[in-house]
Amino acid sequence: AHWFVMVSFMILFLLVVEAYFEVVDPEGGLPIIGHWTVYGLVTEIIGVLGLAGILVLVAIRQRDKRKKLSRFTGSTMWQAYFVEAIIIGVLICGFLIRGFKVANDTFEYDAWATPVSHAVGAILPAAADGPTWVALVKIFISMGWLITIALNVTMGVAWHRFLAFFNIFFKRSPDKPAGSGLGALRPMMSQGKPLDFEEADPEKDQFGVAQVEQFTWKGLLDFSTCTECGRCQSQCPAWNTAKPLSPKLLVLSLRDHAYAKAPY
Ligand code: HEM
Ligand code: SF4
Repeated sequence: AHWFVMVSFMILFLLVVEAYFEVVDPEGGLPIIGHWTVYGLVTEIIGVLGLAGILVLVAIRQRDKRKKLSRFTGSTMWQAYFVEAIIIGVLICGFLIRGFKVANDTFEYDAWATPVSHAVGAILPAAADGPTWVALVKIFISMGWLITIALNVTMGVAWHRFLAFFNIFFKRSPDKPAGSGLGALRPMMSQGKPLDFEEADPEKDQFGVAQVEQFTWKGLLDFSTCTECGRCQSQCPAWNTAKPLSPKLLVLSLRDHAYAKAPY
């Protein structure tokens, strides 16, 4: 389900660009590819799968949060509801724009390639300005999302869609081929040098991290990419035996602290 939502975000970005054409001309569309049936077909299929995918993710979240030991305990739920609502809104607007074009008899694709849009069009009345108004709502929703995440840099559930790719690419693993990651785990450092535990002097050497800025950039990227999914928490023995320790809450506190302390 997540995969479909993710692919729909990447490909249906084109439909948001298309909305900028529709908002000035109800019959508008993307230049060049906008009249290709294959574009109509692919965006239709991905639109349907993306909508189904996000509804499954909504259902999973609602079911899980009712459990006694929910992995979402401590997650910022409004942010997840916000991204879910935005995705549902944008995808529905996409089908409404196409539906109005069908009802107005200005839609460029055949029913075999875009059956859902044609079905929506069959129940909508003809309205010459329909695509323009829905395109305007779609642009407000999309840009509202962009402004909200720009104002909330700690909104990992939204930011991960940009950051996760870099975070995975730069993951630490001894098996990663050279050039595609950061290699094996970094040794503990003190005074800029790897720490030798035989020689270390507890009076002078620092063990681990004492201030958030002592994390590497990869550590800060890890915090920022956290989607608050709670899978680490649900696997944690301390949390599962009712101790007040959760790896997720630790990551979230470090993330919030890092951004609160940032000098910008
Ligand atoms: C490599 C890239 C990505 C990875 C590894 C990743 C991983 C995750 C994980 C682990 C979650 C938490 C799922 C849960 O709570 O069960 C999540 C949630 C989510 N992801 Fe991604 N993600 C990626 C890219 C994207 C992209 C590009 C989008 C674009 C829309 C996206 C949209 C979402 C949404 C909407 C949620 C919230 C789901 C909910 O309602 O609970 N993700 N992602
Ligand atoms: S640290 Fe990873 S597993 Fe834990 S809540 Fe964040 S994204 Fe999920």
